[in-house]
Amino acid sequence: MHIFKDYYQNEVKLSFDDEPFSKDPRHVWSICQYRNQWLLTKHQERGLEFPGGKVEKDETAIEAAIREIKEETGGVVKEIAYIGQYFVAGKAGDVIKNVYFAQISNLVAQPTYFETAGPVLLDSLPNNIKSNKAYSFIMKDDVLSNCLDYIMNREG
Ligand code: GTP
Repeated sequence: MHIFKDYYQNEVKLSFDDEPFSKDPRHVWSICQYRNQWLLTKHQERGLEFPGGKVEKDETAIEAAIREIKEETGGVVKEIAYIGQYFVAGKAGDVIKNVYFAQISNLVAQPTYFETAGPVLLDSLPNNIKSNKAYSFIMKDDVLSNCLDYIMNREG
């Protein structure tokens, strides 16, 4: 278990076990790769981030992850795997979010990308994300770095 503070000084607990905080999480977030690039979206308020959002009624968490990737980037998921789950003790309540690692087969141009400006492809993630105003707060705590380490180690 990794425990740290987020950008807003809320406590975050991150685990790579099988859904340790909730089997029915209400939020999802997906680290996406498309042809050796990272696939992010540009949220209109928060800035650059990997796609994600809330699980809707009658939807599983993984279905929500696939839907949010499509809505926010136009990305069609080829493979998706659960990585871990985190718990944020937020000021307005707790948030439990599943993290997935997704491979994208193609990007479909869409009339709307919902509350985002659509897909952003990057060869590499900058090492100054924490101080970079272009990036969303959800990219600015140790969830991202720990998940990237986990993915790299798992893939050998
Ligand atoms: P709606 O207005 O209902 O769409 O929700 P919201 O945008 O107010 O918030 P949401 O339920 O997504 O999150 C509530 C709070 O939880 C946020 O203001 C953050 O403080 C925190 N939170 C949500 N997602 C994350 C995350 O991925 N990382 C971190 N560190 N905090 C998060």
